[in-house]
Amino acid sequence: MTVHTIRTGILTVRDRGYRGEYRDLSGPVIRQLVVEELGATVEQEAIVPDEREIIAATLSTWADVAGLDLVLTTGGTGFAPRDVTPEATLDVIDREAPGLAEAMRAASLQITPHAMLSRAVAGIRGTTLIVNLPGSPKAVRENLETILPALPHAVELLQGRKGADRHPDAPA
Ligand code: MTE
Repeated sequence: MTVHTIRTGILTVRDRGYRGEYRDLSGPVIRQLVVEELGATVEQEAIVPDEREIIAATLSTWADVAGLDLVLTTGGTGFAPRDVTPEATLDVIDREAPGLAEAMRAASLQITPHAMLSRAVAGIRGTTLIVNLPGSPKAVRENLETILPALPHAVELLQGRKGADRHPDAPA
């Protein structure tokens, strides 16, 4: 069986990281997990400020122009006034994928009640899956480990490679 490599983008959303006042520790955690656990390649990586339009523009470019399979964001999902990553994501997705966010919050609630404070969303733009993760390296690891087992099949479905499984009557 040919295994398709998952082409991934990692978007760190953090004002201080963007201004260079903070070393991004969460992006590298995502990179390590997707490369080691999924055999993915990281095609795009960026740090942007907590600005809705900039986040949305980056996500749509990575989906439409770079044609990535998977984009993982970190940061900006909480209740602070400048936390707008979920709103920016909702601006660009065609379809929500609520099960991924539900699974992350359910698993994280076993670890900390603060999991309730994540407003993370997940969704699909074209054939690109976009998933919000919280900002801290610890939270990133805990959340991403929860959804990792489902991501290869998610990408296969989006690429239509498993389409016949879902639609047995579909023409060959
Ligand atoms: N989920 C897990 N698994 N572990 C955590 O430590 N932190 C929570 C939550 N989800 C956390 C977690 C906290 S404290 C917040 S405020 C929200 O994620 C949002 O984080 P963000 O604002 O950095 O995106």
